[in-house]
Amino acid sequence: MDHPIRIGIAGLGRLGKRHAEQLARRTAGAELVSACSPVADELRWARETLGVTALHEDFTAFVRDPQLDAVVLVTPTTLHAEQTEAALEAGKHVFVEKPLSLDVASCEHVEAVARRHPGRVAMVGFVRRFDPSYAQARADIEAGAIGRPFLVRSQTCDRNDPDGFFVRFAPTSGGIFMDCSVHDIDLARWMLGNPKPTRAFATGTIALHPALAEFGDVDNGLAMVDFEGGARAVFYASRTMAHGHETTTEIIGTAGSISVGVGAHRDRVQTRDATGVHHRVVVDFFARFGEAFQLELAAFVAACRSGTPPITLADATEATRIGQALTRSLRSGQIERF
Ligand code: NAI
Repeated sequence: MDHPIRIGIAGLGRLGKRHAEQLARRTAGAELVSACSPVADELRWARETLGVTALHEDFTAFVRDPQLDAVVLVTPTTLHAEQTEAALEAGKHVFVEKPLSLDVASCEHVEAVARRHPGRVAMVGFVRRFDPSYAQARADIEAGAIGRPFLVRSQTCDRNDPDGFFVRFAPTSGGIFMDCSVHDIDLARWMLGNPKPTRAFATGTIALHPALAEFGDVDNGLAMVDFEGGARAVFYASRTMAHGHETTTEIIGTAGSISVGVGAHRDRVQTRDATGVHHRVVVDFFARFGEAFQLELAAFVAACRSGTPPITLADATEATRIGQALTRSLRSGQIERF
């Protein structure tokens, strides 16, 4: 296939607009030809800002458009599984944002549909795998830099948003572990060599956003997962950091450890003065993972050509399996066994 991969995007919200800009302006070998959203203003934005001419309010008409080779789904989480299946059935390659579904059975159903379409690529957006620092950490571990990795401590911490965007998002996000920690869960499995989980426990608290209680959610969550073979993971997720967005991961092995992202540095400038030592921090996940989002879509376009996605649907199913166990544990106070 030597023509550009012709891509349609569904979902033009907070992240969808970013992905659309990447596809239209910065993804070699891709052409953004179509967009889908139930919101007329968002479609107008795609036409006026990016020059997209095929605009759809209806997802079914969008996904069946014969000019499309592939679709990028940046829609609400609750739609991911059914829209992925519809796209595969329509013969398109699919990139779908994380998580694949809030429900393990739905993930497995998507896997079954994908098996019926072996010529189509389906890839889930675990963007951190494309971050150069995380990719380097993984390569170092594979090369034996820290011996046998056995423990991952990983956190996703967002700056407090007094507007409470995520409170409005809470009914469909799946809760803090499915929305935030799902990235750390995927990273832990990746760094530890994909071990199977055996049990999980979670707790949490509401520090600043009491409206979350109605949804059984928290704004600070803690979790522990045991894996077969002795590996362990500890996760922390927060929506209430005062300083900025701080995603960090530490992988501990028998001969050393690796850490990624500690300090949330925005750049390499550090100032020493009478009040102490200071540096600026990244404000949000776009600032931290902008390059990774670009590399991720480039990897999807490459996968459409090679037929081999760098992340499997089974990885996404496992992340949901663990994330859902943590969500149940948070609500019940009990240990979950797999
Ligand atoms: P959002 O609510 O800002 O955007 C959702 C978009 O989907 C809107 O444009 C809406 O009009 C559109 N939409 C709703 N129903 C639709 C339908 N039936 N067909 C087509 N479009 C439809 O949400 P946001 O923050 O952009 O998140 C979208 C997804 O991206 C979520 O699943 C979220 O988990 C994921 N995400 C992933 C991140 C990452 O780090 N990889 C970061 C932020 C979000």
